[in-house]
Amino acid sequence: MTVILDGKKVSSLILEDVKKNISNKKRKLATILVGDNYASELYVNIKKKRCESVGMDFELHKFNSDENQDKVIEQIKKLNDDESVTGILVQLPLPISYDTRKVLDSISPTKDVDGLTSSNLGLLMSNKETIVSCTAKAVITLLDNYNISSEGKHVVIIGHSFLVGRPLAEIFLNRGATVTVCHDRTNDLEKHTQLADILVSATGVSHLIKKEMVKQNTIVVDVGISKKNGKLCGDVDFENVKEKSSFITPVPGGIGPMTVAMLVENLSSM
Ligand code: GUN
Repeated sequence: MTVILDGKKVSSLILEDVKKNISNKKRKLATILVGDNYASELYVNIKKKRCESVGMDFELHKFNSDENQDKVIEQIKKLNDDESVTGILVQLPLPISYDTRKVLDSISPTKDVDGLTSSNLGLLMSNKETIVSCTAKAVITLLDNYNISSEGKHVVIIGHSFLVGRPLAEIFLNRGATVTVCHDRTNDLEKHTQLADILVSATGVSHLIKKEMVKQNTIVVDVGISKKNGKLCGDVDFENVKEKSSFITPVPGGIGPMTVAMLVENLSSM
């Protein structure tokens, strides 16, 4: 019997917990959104709703896609100095012309609610999980909630972004897993995915992962989200891969809602 990893249910329990245990301190999330990427606007709206549902304030700073990068950095620096702001989030992706690393590193590490500054990523590399990338934390927290340990297991991650793949690889290494990180230049992807006890895919390529690419009883986590024939779908061919997996996340209702819950949880601890 395959178990569906229900991110919607687990995330609402986490949000309830945050709401119950949050201290009286007023918290505010400031979000930077550059350009008019439809998906980003959608994500930012969900983040706003979830923050407000637990009594946190939300403030949006929106810029046109042709805005000079220095103006955005200037705004981030103002938010660093603003005592009413608890956390700062720069919604990714930024326009191609931007130096994303430079923009992210202008966030004060103590306000880096997404754990994406070089400083917080570096701490993660030395096994200090201070503020951890929300998507990476979403994966590990969902597995934890189903008592799935990664110790000693072979974890194969597809995607090497700073948002998901790289921090997630560090978290799994810190927990005693053997980790393979694949990406768009990996030769013979299937050779690697077939070795996975836990397979995490974070590419945004619809139905990249087919049934023949996974071994029997694999734990499958789908971080991807894309549209195919107008329908929302993930990296994993869910209906077919499900038959071979022991645990699997759906899209939607898997890692998506967990990521937003992790953002709210990170903010509540700042
Ligand atoms: N774009 C897609 N997901 C995320 C996320 O979790 N954080 C940020 N900053 N940008 C994203």
